[in-house]
Amino acid sequence: MSELLDKLELASKEAPIHIAAASDLEQLEALRLQFLGRKGIITQVLHGLGQVSQENRPLIGKRANEVKRLVNECLEVRRSELESVRLTQELFKQKLDVTLPGFKPWSGSIHPLTQTLDRMNEIFFSMGFTLAEGPEIEDDFHNFDALNTPPHHPARNEQDTFYLENGLLLRAHTSPVQVRHMQAHQPPVRIVAPGRVFRRDTPDASHSPVFHQIEGLYVDQHVCFGDLKYTLEQFACQFFGPETKLRFRPSFFPFTEPSAEVDCSCAFCKGAGCNVCKGSGWMELLGCGMVHPGVFEAVGYDPERWTGFAFGMGIDRFCMRLYGINDIRLFLESDVAFLSQF
Ligand code: PHE
Repeated sequence: MSELLDKLELASKEAPIHIAAASDLEQLEALRLQFLGRKGIITQVLHGLGQVSQENRPLIGKRANEVKRLVNECLEVRRSELESVRLTQELFKQKLDVTLPGFKPWSGSIHPLTQTLDRMNEIFFSMGFTLAEGPEIEDDFHNFDALNTPPHHPARNEQDTFYLENGLLLRAHTSPVQVRHMQAHQPPVRIVAPGRVFRRDTPDASHSPVFHQIEGLYVDQHVCFGDLKYTLEQFACQFFGPETKLRFRPSFFPFTEPSAEVDCSCAFCKGAGCNVCKGSGWMELLGCGMVHPGVFEAVGYDPERWTGFAFGMGIDRFCMRLYGINDIRLFLESDVAFLSQF
C-alpha cells in the first residue's frame, strides 16, 4: 500500500516541476502521457487499487484523484502559457516591415517610333486630316500602275521591291494607301496614312529593309501648291519649333507633278551647321507634289474637277535625329536596354 502512496507523492512533487519546465507543447504532451496516459503513473495506481485492501482503498483512491487533479491543473496552466508563446512567435514570423521598399512593378514605355508618329499624327489631325490604313501586302496595281509608274520604271525592279511567290509584293511606300482610299471615298479627301514599308536594302546603321513612312493626301477643288507649302510649313513649325524654315527642291515622282523634295532647317543648330545635319544646316524631310492627273484617272476621279497634293515622309531617320539614335536597326531589335531609355 505505501508503495502506491509513495508513487503518488513522488508524482505530486515531480509533475509540477517537470510540467512548469516543459519548453514546448510537444514536451507537455509527453509529460501528460507520462502521468495521465494509459500507461501513466497515476493510471497505474488507479488500476492497482484492486489489489489494495478494502480499508486502504478509499484513502489511496482519494489521493490518486487529488494528484490527478493537480497534474491536470499544472498541465492547463503550462499549456496556456506555451500557446501564447507560440502565438507570439507566429505573429513575429509574419510581421510585415512596412518601411521596406516594395517591389517596383515593371513598367513598359512607348516605342520611340510610335512616340514620333503620335506627335506627327496629332499635328495633322489638328489640321483636319484623318487616319487611313492599307495592307502591307500589295499588288502591282496599287503599288505601281495606279500611281502612274510605267511598266519599266526602275522602282519595279526586283532589286528594289520584295515580290512574293503569288505575284503580290510588299509595299515599297505608303502611297498605295492613297489609291485605296480614293477608290473607296469621293472627294474631298484629307488623310494621313502611317505604316511599315519594305525595300530590298542590305541592313546597316542607316538602312533597314523595313522602315516607316507617313503619307499625306489632300484632294478638293482648287487645291494648289501654295496649300501644300502652307500645310508642310505649319507641320514643321509645330513639330520643330516656330522658327523652322523649309526648302523646296524640284524633284521627280511618277505620281506627282510638279514634285519636290523638302528639307527643313536643322532642328538642332537652327541652320548654322552641326554634326547632326553634317554641316549643311538642312535636314531632308520628305517627298511631295501635286497629285498627277493619271492617278486621279486610275481611281475614277475627274482630273478636270479635282486637284490635290500628296507627301510621304520617312519616320525612322527623323526619329533617329530627334533622339540622337545612331543605328536604324535598333528600332526593330526589341532590346529592352535600348527601349527603356524612351
Ligand atoms: N512615295 C514617295 C517615296 O516613298 C514619297 C512621296 C509620297 C512623294 C507622296 C510624293 C508624294 O519616296
